Amino acid sequence: MFIGSPYESECDLISPNRNLTPITTEVDEKLGMMIGGCILTDLASRYSTPLYVIDEATLRASCRAYKKALKKHYPSESLPIYASKANSSLALTSLMKSEGFGLDVVSEGELLTALRGGLPGERIWLHGNNKSEAELRLAYNNQVTVVVDNQHDLDRLAEIVPSGGKPARLMLRFTPGIECHTHEYIRTGHLDSKFGFDPDDLKEVLFQIKDSSWAVLNGIHAHIGSQIFELDPHRDLAKVMVDVYKMAMGIGHCIEDINVGGGLGIRYVESDDPPSIDSWVLTIAKSLTQACHEADLQLPRLICEPGRSLVATSGVTLYRLGSRKSIPGLRTYLSIDGGMSDNPRPITYQSLYTACLAHIPNGTRDQNVTIAGKHCESGDVLLKDFAIPKASSGDVLVVFSTGAYNSSMSSNYNRIPRPAAVLVNQGQADLVLRRERPEDLLKYDVLPERLIEVG
Ligand code: LLP
Repeated sequence: MFIGSPYESECDLISPNRNLTPITTEVDEKLGMMIGGCILTDLASRYSTPLYVIDEATLRASCRAYKKALKKHYPSESLPIYASKANSSLALTSLMKSEGFGLDVVSEGELLTALRGGLPGERIWLHGNNKSEAELRLAYNNQVTVVVDNQHDLDRLAEIVPSGGKPARLMLRFTPGIECHTHEYIRTGHLDSKFGFDPDDLKEVLFQIKDSSWAVLNGIHAHIGSQIFELDPHRDLAKVMVDVYKMAMGIGHCIEDINVGGGLGIRYVESDDPPSIDSWVLTIAKSLTQACHEADLQLPRLICEPGRSLVATSGVTLYRLGSRKSIPGLRTYLSIDGGMSDNPRPITYQSLYTACLAHIPNGTRDQNVTIAGKHCESGDVLLKDFAIPKASSGDVLVVFSTGAYNSSMSSNYNRIPRPAAVLVNQGQADLVLRRERPEDLLKYDVLPERLIEVG
């Protein structure tokens, strides 16, 4: 009933972020649910659980939706870049590269993944509100654009660039002062935010950069938050950005890029109703074009950096059900073999998810259960009071829309190894992330000799 793409037949409107399941989802009477042509119960047996499954077709369709919309609605150059914090791996980097995307990274680890995944530095942007010297050095040495967030970045970079060396490529991030309705932890554009320069300081900073021989500023950046369903804040953002663009040009900078960040929401549960990728891009493109015309400025290259809306819907997580505890008149807990260490979003943001049993995805949901994780924490609950068909220990549970901010936010809480990830496409499954083993978790432990008991 909730399976597949409501827009599949209308090619133009394909927008996987509005689906609850990957676009290749099928149900076979005997085999149960399939994604990317692979039977989910088979994947669970072959690769064990918990298992992240990424559907290549959904991922590529999301990328193409952004590219197509930018081409259609923006009358100048554009470049979508993937916010790799949503899910960073060599495989995803390589996929994004093949789709013509750039990448946004926020740490040495993400930057290394982008470079080793084959992306040239010119297509990478380094973010962060407290970048280390090592991060800045790696970025500078690889011609990566640094999105300067504060004076600290400028001071560090001034020390890193050798005299007479190639100037560092900079983009300037500011706090646009735009409110939007999303969880407060993932709102970044309001004035009380740790990210970006305060608008009141911009003029001085722009003059300071203009006077620095070691830097070239060619872009302006702002990001207002994540999992946003409204379009108005993005419309307003484009206008505010043009004000800064104008100020920078007036000071003598040659601004080529305007980066409007990411933030488009996705459908996690039936009642979520995010806009399509096409409407999001249209809103921004229109607003930016109009504001530039009004300010008599040339259209810059439009960069956007979506994360969630590119990868979330392509991912599902497979778990096996284990123990059951029924408290008469109160609740039935069904426990899974993972939980908050592979998906910390419910405990962190009270996020809701949709799920089904892999072998009977359309079975009658005649019992209400609470799906609990296996961690030693009462709040480790993945789905609360969730309707599900009669389920037994050993059944495979499929949780949808886990492609963003699950693997990348996973931990080893309780010394639980992190899951493997497979990429599925047309009946083929390829391992893209190996499963950790408990021994791996001991790799960095050091037992000082004086603590080793003799005898
Ligand atoms: N650009 C910047 C500068 C960002 O900080 C972010 C996300 C993005 C782009 C991508 O935003 P998206 O398109 O994914 O909404 N862990 C939270 C989400 C944190 C988002 C952080 N920044 C969650 O699980 O909901």
